[in-house]
Amino acid sequence: MMNPQATAVKTMKMFRVLFLVLVCAELCNSANPGVKIRVTKKGIDYANSVAQRLLTQQLRTLGFPNQSSQSGKTSISVTNIRVEGVSIPSSSIALSPQRNGLTWAISNFGITVRANYRAVKRGWIRLSNSGSLRASVSGVTVRETLAFGRSSSGRPTISHAGCSGSVASVSVRFYGSWSWLINLFRRRIGRSFRDQLRPEICKQVIKLVNGKLQTSLAGLPVTADVANNFSVDYRLVTSPRVTSDYIEISHKGTVYSKSNRREPPFSAQAIPPWTSNSRMVYVWVTQYSFNTLLYQAHTSGMLKYQVTRNQLPVNSRSYLDTTCPGACIGNTIPQTLARYPRTSVEMSLESAAMPKATMTFNRLTIDVSFKVEAKVRFSNNAVNNLVSFNVNASLTFKPNIRRENLNGEVTNYSLRLSDIKFANDQVLATPAQLDTVLTRVLGLTVIPKLNVLAARGVQLPAPGDARFTNSYISIRQGYLMIGTDVAMTL
Ligand SMILES: *[C@@H]1O[C@H](CO)[C@@H](O)[C@H](O)[C@H]1NC(C)=O
Ligand SMILES: *[C@@H]1O[C@H](CO)[C@@H](O)[C@H](O)[C@H]1NC(C)=O
Ligand SMILES: *[C@@H]1O[C@H](CO)[C@@H](O)[C@H](O)[C@H]1NC(C)=O
Ligand SMILES: *[C@@H]1O[C@H](CO)[C@@H](O)[C@H](O)[C@H]1NC(C)=O
Repeated sequence: MMNPQATAVKTMKMFRVLFLVLVCAELCNSANPGVKIRVTKKGIDYANSVAQRLLTQQLRTLGFPNQSSQSGKTSISVTNIRVEGVSIPSSSIALSPQRNGLTWAISNFGITVRANYRAVKRGWIRLSNSGSLRASVSGVTVRETLAFGRSSSGRPTISHAGCSGSVASVSVRFYGSWSWLINLFRRRIGRSFRDQLRPEICKQVIKLVNGKLQTSLAGLPVTADVANNFSVDYRLVTSPRVTSDYIEISHKGTVYSKSNRREPPFSAQAIPPWTSNSRMVYVWVTQYSFNTLLYQAHTSGMLKYQVTRNQLPVNSRSYLDTTCPGACIGNTIPQTLARYPRTSVEMSLESAAMPKATMTFNRLTIDVSFKVEAKVRFSNNAVNNLVSFNVNASLTFKPNIRRENLNGEVTNYSLRLSDIKFANDQVLATPAQLDTVLTRVLGLTVIPKLNVLAARGVQLPAPGDARFTNSYISIRQGYLMIGTDVAMTL
């Protein structure tokens, strides 16, 4: 026999499991984005003004091909259609959180055309009539609602989610022989024309949405190069999200090595809420994205430098020499000079652990731990080990936004040496002397190289004809954020 109490407990447990599974399906799947973009209402209003401008340009150059139609034995052709006047519609874009999309409305569009026509009726007797006509369509209104989604390739999609169109009136007047007769029917012809036009409006809009618009989104790039060997994955992690104040687009923002796509063993933290919407667009780049780059660079063995005499800038080449007239290792570390005069020192650096980027209030630092080995090279090319040690370097970066490119520079750095081991227990330098030399060597070699890469930066995901203006960057706990207005160069 079943024990009712045990059954109740079992049922409870089952519900709890089910609940956890459901919650997990919602939360466990949706990875946090590494890069997020928000387009605010201000941005949408700007997009609307651009749309209105484009529409106006388009309407000003409107042309119509010759039309012909056949109905029973009657064929009609309308040729040489000239636009006489256009009343430019007003346009508005409203966010639609319910549909996770937006509604674009254009209202009060009107157009007047002149054309030639020719009607032929075949039969026992062939009747034909030709002349010109003037037609005006006024009060055309369209409201198209678009819903956002995400394609299997991680691109944003836009789909048609409702359309309504109306035409207030159509009037036609005919000129030429028999026109007095045809004009008797002109009201009926106008109404019939209007009734045919009304469903045609939405049909055309839907065709545009399902055709051109979808094709252009399907072609959006979802990666961007970082340095030579890496690229950042900008695929969407979820569908764009529409609220009453903004549209938010969440990108993966993971950097991969081009030659070896390795998934990093850590994931992005949630980006805290942000309530100011005074700029058109906000872009968040998380610490995670920076760290995926560092992870890939470290694991693919790219954080490795061999510093020899020849790699120094020409005017500092003697710095690694033990004997020199000016500033060189020999003068900084007399112990080494004493033992190895007229030689030159070489250093190899290799990252010992994954470097780590940390963002805190107004500060971006990268901590990297290197293993360093120094040798002397004699003029006969023989080498002698001198010392090996670890150095933990902490580099402070100043991020910068130049157009749509996020870049930066190293502003300062500090080193901490540890595990100093001299070959054959010959103590050839003090830690302070090693620190001085390494600081100088890094300043001459690694830091300038790093600055070249950092200056090149990375392209942010923005449409090709969008220019950032009035931009600012702020760094917060775990992310940096760019607030910007946008100008379309159309
Ligand atoms: C339209 O018809 C007119 C008159 O028949 C003709 O001159 C013109 O070339 C046609 N235009 C096109 C694009 O076919
Ligand atoms: C990085 O890119 C450069 C230039 O494309 C190439 O020569 C080099 O082999 C690449 N390095 C790695 C580690 O893939
Ligand atoms: C240097 O960095 C490594 C790896 O991040 C860490 O384990 C070590 O404690 C650091 N050493 C010093 C002296 O700070
Ligand atoms: C760089 O300079 C800033 C400001 O003076 C300082 O707070 C920071 O600790 C320095 N960073 C390093 C790595 O020395």
